[in-house]
Amino acid sequence: HRRLISIADLNPLDVDILFDRAEHWLEVCRTPAKKADALRGLTQINLFFEPSTRTQASFEIAGKRLGADVVNFSAASSSTSKGETLLDTVKTLAAMNPDLLVVRHKACGAAAFVSDATGIAVVNAGDGMNEHPTQALLDAFTLTQRLGPLGGRRVLIVGDVLHSRVARSGVQLLNLLGAEVRLCAPPTLLPLDADRWGAEVFHDLDDALDGCDAVMALRLQQERMMAGYIPSLREYFHFYGLTARRLEAASPGALVLHPGPMNRGVEIDGALADDEERSLVLDQVEAGVAMRMAVLEAIGTLARKNEERRQ
Ligand code: CP
Repeated sequence: HRRLISIADLNPLDVDILFDRAEHWLEVCRTPAKKADALRGLTQINLFFEPSTRTQASFEIAGKRLGADVVNFSAASSSTSKGETLLDTVKTLAAMNPDLLVVRHKACGAAAFVSDATGIAVVNAGDGMNEHPTQALLDAFTLTQRLGPLGGRRVLIVGDVLHSRVARSGVQLLNLLGAEVRLCAPPTLLPLDADRWGAEVFHDLDDALDGCDAVMALRLQQERMMAGYIPSLREYFHFYGLTARRLEAASPGALVLHPGPMNRGVEIDGALADDEERSLVLDQVEAGVAMRMAVLEAIGTLARKNEERRQ
């Protein structure tokens, strides 16, 4: 593939290869040198039309560690703020002949739109409520590092599933890897088609946690909720917040993930998030750089081959 828009772009062999390469890059990133030249000579533009800490920084670091020339574009400081459309913005940047575009945008389908409009290799870094495929890859990779193959493992995703691109990509990938996937949320924060995602749906967190090997808490995405539909945060934590006590319903030693950014005391108790035995939050961040190196390497190598064929 010359693009990664959705987990549906990947087959199990692609995922195996990405996990192998991410494992390699994880080791490289732990050495003092950290660098390679797989993408030397290629130009990567990170187009972020929505705020980001983890994804933006890790794509930048990943591209630089692979030797690419990386340019960061942030909507707030660009001509988007003067009314330029998405199409004009990406056509303008495409005219500078980049080889790779990493796109985050609030609109579902934006990454596919940019890919179709430019013909340039695109990695989706989150399109609205739709998908965040590299987050799903790094989450599943982080879990695999701790649990081994995920086939038959019971994994729960709890929280604001309705607005979550992390959940939409995560459920697809966990299914592809043979995990038993559960979703838990209040009915108001579940999409109407959740029962067709390939996951068992729960509203009660204690029931959902039963026998789970891992649980991922999702952020309440208040920026995507209409005023008046934002739940009481105290009530939400009472029913759906992850705490060490609540985790007693899960398998002994069950692991905890959160894609970040976290709202401590809303989706997850701060002490649990900091529990080095159980919480994989910072492992996810470290794996994020390695997995994005694996994805950029795969897509960048193909982009380079296509370019060479054309010449
Ligand atoms: N998990 C995630 O996408 O975080 P950022 O919004 O900080 O990139």
